[in-house]
Amino acid sequence: MEKLIIKGGRRLAGEIRVSGAKNSALPILASSLLSQGPLRIGNLPHLHDITTTMELLGQMGLTLTVGDNLEVEVDSATISQFLAPYELVKTMRASILVLGPLLARFGKAEVSLPGGCAIGTRPVDMHLQALAAMGAKIEVEGGYIRATASGLKGADIVFDAVTVTGTENLLMAACLADGVTTLTNAAKEPEVVDLANCLRSMGAIISGEGTNVIQIQGVKSLKGTSYNILPDRIETGTYLTAVAMTGGRVKLKDTRPDLLGAVLTKLEEAGAVVSTGDDWIELEMDPADLKAVNIQTGPYPRFPTDMQAQFTALNCIAGGTGAIQESVFENRFMHVQELRRMGADVRVEGNIVFTSGVEKLTGAPLMATDLRASASLVLAGLVGCGETIVDRIYHIDRGYETIEEKLTNLGADIRRVPR
Ligand code: EPU
Repeated sequence: MEKLIIKGGRRLAGEIRVSGAKNSALPILASSLLSQGPLRIGNLPHLHDITTTMELLGQMGLTLTVGDNLEVEVDSATISQFLAPYELVKTMRASILVLGPLLARFGKAEVSLPGGCAIGTRPVDMHLQALAAMGAKIEVEGGYIRATASGLKGADIVFDAVTVTGTENLLMAACLADGVTTLTNAAKEPEVVDLANCLRSMGAIISGEGTNVIQIQGVKSLKGTSYNILPDRIETGTYLTAVAMTGGRVKLKDTRPDLLGAVLTKLEEAGAVVSTGDDWIELEMDPADLKAVNIQTGPYPRFPTDMQAQFTALNCIAGGTGAIQESVFENRFMHVQELRRMGADVRVEGNIVFTSGVEKLTGAPLMATDLRASASLVLAGLVGCGETIVDRIYHIDRGYETIEEKLTNLGADIRRVPR
């Protein structure tokens, strides 16, 4: 297993490009199951989760052609299997996103039930209830969801709680259903909007995406199209937090500041000077100004749970005390123990992470446990005295494209080594 070795203490400076959004690319790849012609997807990030999704679609018999320039063309005309096996779903829960499209277009799907994971139990009950309300017959047997439908019917669906992939699954299913579907208490995440834009460009009739009520008028078929994935707001936020911690001045290009409102507000509250243009963000920081912030995570447009771990690392070295309440997942605190091993004064009570800033963190061998927790350990390593070794970095490769190259370009001392 590869590791990252980081020598902390350098300020970051320079410019880097932000990659396409993982959490847009995953549902958009799954949406290729809906279109009769090929779907060409641009600005795809080069990530493990993307490769896994492509492998899943390939195993189903779809034809995937990888082009130059971060592009892939997916053609569902050759589909021969309607199965997402345990071996793939266990490595990537987002495989559940093939369930809605398979049912809507082909009337059958067999998808392994995702288990719990490092950040919580993460059930998919709301996906299944909503698909059942559209007329699907669903059985869970032997660890698999077996679903059939002889034509899904439009329905009024009210989600009990906001679910991002649940909204995406139902949005895709409703596009080919008979009649109108209304999704109430829908997720407003930019990645849901990106999916809706892609589906619309395939011929779907959708309104209200980006609000909590989405309406979909089903159509008989969807056509192929070309679509570019939006920039990754969490990758953007992670690098901005890195600079806020190390000090320095960094410009992120090909991003979307309008999607990071809550994160930019907290970075400014922490003492950073932030300037933005249409597609760039620059952050300047004097580490002497770094102050701890209080945060409560929540569904978009509130502060993203996917940035909680990174801000926890920031609070560990900031002036004063901070409290971050995790309101989306019940157990997303695996990074806390590792940060303590670097000398951080941090503890979890209930769903709140309390910190009291320390003068310095000390480099240590650390274990990555999930994607965003791992990112927070890299950030801590960038400011830690001495050497930090982050093990099990396959978690990081699921969501950050060439993290060590991007950080090296900004002046960090970080390298990847085989075990
Ligand atoms: N939930 C249920 N039942 C369901 C669905 C969700 O109880 O049927 C609960 C979850 O357990 C959780 C809450 O509802 O407590 C919200 O979960 P949600 O369904 O919104 O999460 P998700 O769709 O599985 C996506 C992202 C996550 C991100 C969350 C929250 C993708 C592929 N994943 O997950 O991204 O944290 O939304 O914004 O879009 C990451 O990128 O590191 C990551 C984990």
